[in-house]
Amino acid sequence: MGMRRKFIAGNWKMHGLGSSLSEITPIAAAAEALGDVDVALCLPATLIQRAAEAAPALAIGAQDCHRNVSGAHTGCLSAAMIAEVGASLTIVGHSERRQDQHESDADVKAKAEAARDAGLSVILCCGESEAERDAGEALARVTKQIAASMPDGAAADWLTIAYEPIWAIGTGRVPSSDDIAEMHGAIRNQLRETIGGEADKLRILYGGSMNGGNAAELLAVPDVDGGLVGGASLSADKFVPIIEAAARTK
Ligand code: PGA
Repeated sequence: MGMRRKFIAGNWKMHGLGSSLSEITPIAAAAEALGDVDVALCLPATLIQRAAEAAPALAIGAQDCHRNVSGAHTGCLSAAMIAEVGASLTIVGHSERRQDQHESDADVKAKAEAARDAGLSVILCCGESEAERDAGEALARVTKQIAASMPDGAAADWLTIAYEPIWAIGTGRVPSSDDIAEMHGAIRNQLRETIGGEADKLRILYGGSMNGGNAAELLAVPDVDGGLVGGASLSADKFVPIIEAAARTK
């Protein structure tokens, strides 16, 4: 446990114009002051370059990349394009993209590998729907998703997993600590079976309605190595308390 530094990543989704960049300076300052935590902000692609210039010490990420290096894919961005403007990581396989853009596990695997090949770190998302949770199928669903979307050469120095139950995203609802511990433990065991001892170095984030009020409890759950934060990452006054909670949780 002790070898995994806590990692708090914000996901701005489709929020933020240039005027929102003022939030980034105090977030970067907090991240620097609280040196025991890794902090990243995954931004709309239009803000990546300006954010990277405004906060060179903060890890700036994208929220997706294309699986191909280049080609006839109108409107898409390659991993190298994102890296060139200052991103050091990207999210892949967020449930909103799996739903809205119909991304399959195979797409997610290919995107993760493309990002890695372009020198980016990757946060790979998984998570069950409410119907799957209610049917007692959450563990089976998530482990199947991970088995099918796990990139070749998975290693802790570039890959992070984010467990995000779909019904907890943006709803204010979070699973019980026991349910989160069970899921993260199952993911860890699955990783051990596929990548051996490396699995104990790889971070598994929890995502879904994390905020300053519940972060300390969520981050204390066994095998929770950080958080992927949507709504509460949009402003410094909501995001910094989560970074502070992570710094206090060893
Ligand atoms: P939320 O989103 O924190 O707003 O629930 C989390 C996510 O989708 O990454």
